[in-house]
Amino acid sequence: MTDLDFAGQVAIVTGAGGGLGRSYALELARRGARVVVNDLGGALDGTGGSQAAADGVVAQIREAGGEAVASHHSVSTAEGGEAIVQCALDAFGTVDVLINNAGILRDRSFPKLTGDDLEAVLKVHLYGAFHVTQPAFRVMKERRYGRLLFTSSAAGLFGNFGQANYAAAKAGLVGLSGVLAVEGAKYGITSNVISPIAASRLTEGLMDEVTDKLRPDLVTPLVVFLVSPGCTITHEVYTAGGGRFARVLLGVGPGWFAEGEPTAEEVADQIDRIRSASNYTEPLSAVQEAGLLAEHLGIDGS
Ligand code: NAI
Repeated sequence: MTDLDFAGQVAIVTGAGGGLGRSYALELARRGARVVVNDLGGALDGTGGSQAAADGVVAQIREAGGEAVASHHSVSTAEGGEAIVQCALDAFGTVDVLINNAGILRDRSFPKLTGDDLEAVLKVHLYGAFHVTQPAFRVMKERRYGRLLFTSSAAGLFGNFGQANYAAAKAGLVGLSGVLAVEGAKYGITSNVISPIAASRLTEGLMDEVTDKLRPDLVTPLVVFLVSPGCTITHEVYTAGGGRFARVLLGVGPGWFAEGEPTAEEVADQIDRIRSASNYTEPLSAVQEAGLLAEHLGIDGS
């Protein structure tokens, strides 16, 4: 395999002032990308802000001979998203890669979750990715090239206690990425999702004894590959952490087709077949999923 080179490429990494985003930004810059290091520099719960986080990473990239600029805008508003993309256009003239990584936490068990907790988390993760990606997508569509990466989480994909707000946002990003993979296909834009596992301030207290085995830079190789020019993989979800890299699948089982009017009793009788995941298929769009049904109904689903 030849080295993955980002010479001439422009990358935006949101939330790159620390943790995973910092590792992505450093590695992309080391491989020749010009990088917009975006970070609001706030606290874990999204409050406050400081320019130091993004500035520190930019300084580190420059010291190593790379090119980077800082953006201190929040991803969570449309104006912030526009400003982050404009920052790439002003400094480097374009945007080839966007890694939506910024994130906060407001964990609480479901009955105690407040409207504020829900809104704050949705705004950074889901609205944030939407607000930065939309202006970036427009540039990419025009240029007929782009690499989008969204950051989900095991909580969003599989569920986790105390993270209803976070999981809802993180699962929403899988939906957003899937639509952009479909819409971006004819413009050379790929869109994928990463569900990382790494010791960072986000996981402080949860993984302290294995911090070294879960360094953020152990996630970075897959991220770099997925946004590299030669990688045309799109519409997929991956988990990465501690040196393990694996695909997460969203498939549909073979199912059971009722003959005549189905009843609840028949469903109860057939539940094992309905639940079966053997010989699943992975629809690559809602149209393809509908196509599976159309085939059974004997109608043209194309
Ligand atoms: P982190 O807290 O070190 O990094 C998140 C960064 O996002 C921070 O530097 C923060 O200042 C920045 N940020 C927060 N709100 C922002 C806003 N409105 N605008 C711009 N920047 C903002 O945490 P970590 O672990 O590096 O997380 C990175 C991403 O990975 C997050 O989306 C997180 O939800 C996700 N993730 C992390 C996991 C882990 O095991 N560390 C597990 C699953 C998902």
